[in-house]
Amino acid sequence: MTAAGDRAPREAGGRRSGVLDRTLCVAPMLDWTDRYCRRFHRLLNPRALLYTEMVAAPALLHGDPARLLAHDPGEHPVALQLGGSEAAELAACARLGEAWGYAEINLNLGCPSARVRAGRFGACLMADPGRVNECVAAMVEAVRIPVTLKQRIGIDQADDYDHLARFVDGIARAGCGVFIVHARKAWLQGLSPKENRDIPPLRYDRVQRLKGDFPRLEFVVNGGIGDLDQAVALLRGLDGIMLGRAAYHHPWLLAEAMPRLFGVPMPFARRTDAVRAFRPFMDRELAAGTPLSRMTRHLLGLFHGRPGGRRWRRILSTEAQPPGAGLEVVERALAQVSEESRL
Ligand SMILES: Cc1cc2nc3c(=O)[nH]c(=O)nc-3n(C[C@H](O)[C@H](O)[C@H](O)COP(=O)(O)O)c2cc1C
Repeated sequence: MTAAGDRAPREAGGRRSGVLDRTLCVAPMLDWTDRYCRRFHRLLNPRALLYTEMVAAPALLHGDPARLLAHDPGEHPVALQLGGSEAAELAACARLGEAWGYAEINLNLGCPSARVRAGRFGACLMADPGRVNECVAAMVEAVRIPVTLKQRIGIDQADDYDHLARFVDGIARAGCGVFIVHARKAWLQGLSPKENRDIPPLRYDRVQRLKGDFPRLEFVVNGGIGDLDQAVALLRGLDGIMLGRAAYHHPWLLAEAMPRLFGVPMPFARRTDAVRAFRPFMDRELAAGTPLSRMTRHLLGLFHGRPGGRRWRRILSTEAQPPGAGLEVVERALAQVSEESRL
């Protein structure tokens, strides 16, 4: 264990942060892992560490913290991912995150999008380790919860192992003990963010080598993990795995991960039970004015590959859209799927 992870838990926003289990993390995904998505994922997996979408530090400091940070207590534990490159700003945002009850503050060094680059944060910061060290040190100083990094294995031409190892070593000295590594480099020019998630080859061996060279640091591997067999294999020798697209498109994987990764029963025997368990939350949110589709859009992949899965997706993606749509739409979709799933 290292500096950030060793810190004593203390009351943060009314709850204890404690030691976090990072065996299974669900990746930060802009527009996808909003608070509705996370509430559903939490039902499916009580043990995973969930990440927010990236919140840009300037937006948080000059905008409305309640809008950007509010979440349901039932989501915990949740890590707040920040984007930024100014140490003082990031420290102030980390403090806000801690006060709002987040369990970890994560700094985004993996996003290559032009917009993020224009703000001088995300993956381009990997070219400026001195600045990252300053930012990390300021955040570690500001909060008692862990400060972690999500990064690539390299950017552009700076993609050899020694470069990566030096980068990690420097940041560990600044007080970060947990590295989530998307096991691909990023090309800052020429590839879109989407292409940068698929085209550069996966190098899990680089993350495994980091763990061998820095055994006291925690390494969570991310990128291209599509099923639980692969997750189990990668967990041998690493501290955790982070699932992004697979968890979003096939959320039932999260339930199946309970026996496979944690050795405990699935929280629900059937997918339909999970939807029923989500109903009280949706009901409360509808009463507070949240449109149904903001919640049901995260449920579309639940029956993927199952009888009735297409019908489920079609009913939710069309009938949940109109203003005023309520839980009767979910009931209709559910009735179809339960009938067909019994076949
Ligand atoms: C729609 C979408 C939005 C994303 N937004 C973020 C983000 O806000 N912050 C971040 O660090 N990574 C973001 N990512 C990258 C993921 O966190 C993850 O690193 C990437 O998808 C690779 O993991 P996977 O192959 O398991 O999906 C995003 C990915 C997707 C598909």
